[in-house]
Amino acid sequence: MSNVPEQAWFDRRPLVALAPMEAVTDIAYRPVVRSIAPEAILYTEFTPARGLIHQAKRVWQMVEFSEMERPLVVQIYDNDAPSLGDAAGLIVKHHRPDGLDLNMGCPVRKVANRGAGCGMMAFPENAADSVRRIVDQADGVPVSIKTRLGIKDKQQVIEVAQACVEAGAQQVTIHARLKADRPRVPADWDALARVVPEINAPVMGNGDIWSEEDAVRMIDQTGVIGVMIARGGIGNPWLLKRCQQALSGQTVDALPDREERARVAIAHLQANVETKGERRGVLEMRKVIRNYIKGFRDSKATWMKIIETETELETAAILEAFGKRTDSGTYVESDDHDSAPTAG
Ligand SMILES: Cc1cc2nc3c(=O)[nH]c(=O)nc-3n(C[C@H](O)[C@H](O)[C@H](O)COP(=O)(O)O)c2cc1C
Repeated sequence: MSNVPEQAWFDRRPLVALAPMEAVTDIAYRPVVRSIAPEAILYTEFTPARGLIHQAKRVWQMVEFSEMERPLVVQIYDNDAPSLGDAAGLIVKHHRPDGLDLNMGCPVRKVANRGAGCGMMAFPENAADSVRRIVDQADGVPVSIKTRLGIKDKQQVIEVAQACVEAGAQQVTIHARLKADRPRVPADWDALARVVPEINAPVMGNGDIWSEEDAVRMIDQTGVIGVMIARGGIGNPWLLKRCQQALSGQTVDALPDREERARVAIAHLQANVETKGERRGVLEMRKVIRNYIKGFRDSKATWMKIIETETELETAAILEAFGKRTDSGTYVESDDHDSAPTAG
């Protein structure tokens, strides 16, 4: 008897996912997002298959999750098809996630130059073989791929994705950029719209979703079945819920007030410190806190204080004071998006 869930994660509607992000969508942040956006699909950070096979403790921690994080997809990468298959088998045996995703989008040189991540797009046969081996060992857990439009050609994804679908991939996510595109290069939704009908599987779209209006627009314009949000969701778990609401025609919640932002930022800080220790946990949170508190007149001044402290207690106290203040204006929507690096 197979344990295939009745509804695969990608059959949910509306379909809104928090993208896999290295050092962001970890065991500390995912539960925070789940507490705000109960329906969102969550992904782990991309995880090296061979690290799992060699039983590296640090790597296994990347694929650990709690039940409340479901539906959760574990993302893996490597250039070696047998290793990918074996790693998939181990993950399913130990954790049985709701999905397994193969990363074919990471442009970072040390990954892509050896034919993993986005480098895999250059070798459709190896990509398909990798998918086949993952499917073989996945024991019914659905297998998907996350890729880009191409390395240099914005139609390249069609051939690779089709090969992977024929090999058993049940879902495809496309980051609407080319391999060399900097994060500041606008995602090309027109190019995405052109490739979606050519792929014989449900396609989720990714790239430049910063608001619930963007999510609605991407689905209308490109024909994707759902949206995946990366940078827009860093320190902004509310965006996932807002997208979910807008896509299902519900009234969208008011933007979170200062108190709510401070409360959630503190919870995230505490979880980060708990999992990584105080120094690393606090320092890593600085950039993220900047997003949590963005858009108010005193945001910058608050952040300047945050970057002067290295303790959890002081950071939390600054956030608490931010949450309680009532005299520094209300939220101002801004188009100035942080240019965090896009790794995938
Ligand atoms: C900090 C950071 C880490 C990332 N790590 C991964 C990763 O582990 N796996 C992956 O497939 N993509 C990764 N990406 C790429 C995102 O998933 C996404 O494809 C990209 O940021 C485009 O979406 P956006 O325009 O909404 O940011 C990362 C992006 C960022 C900003």
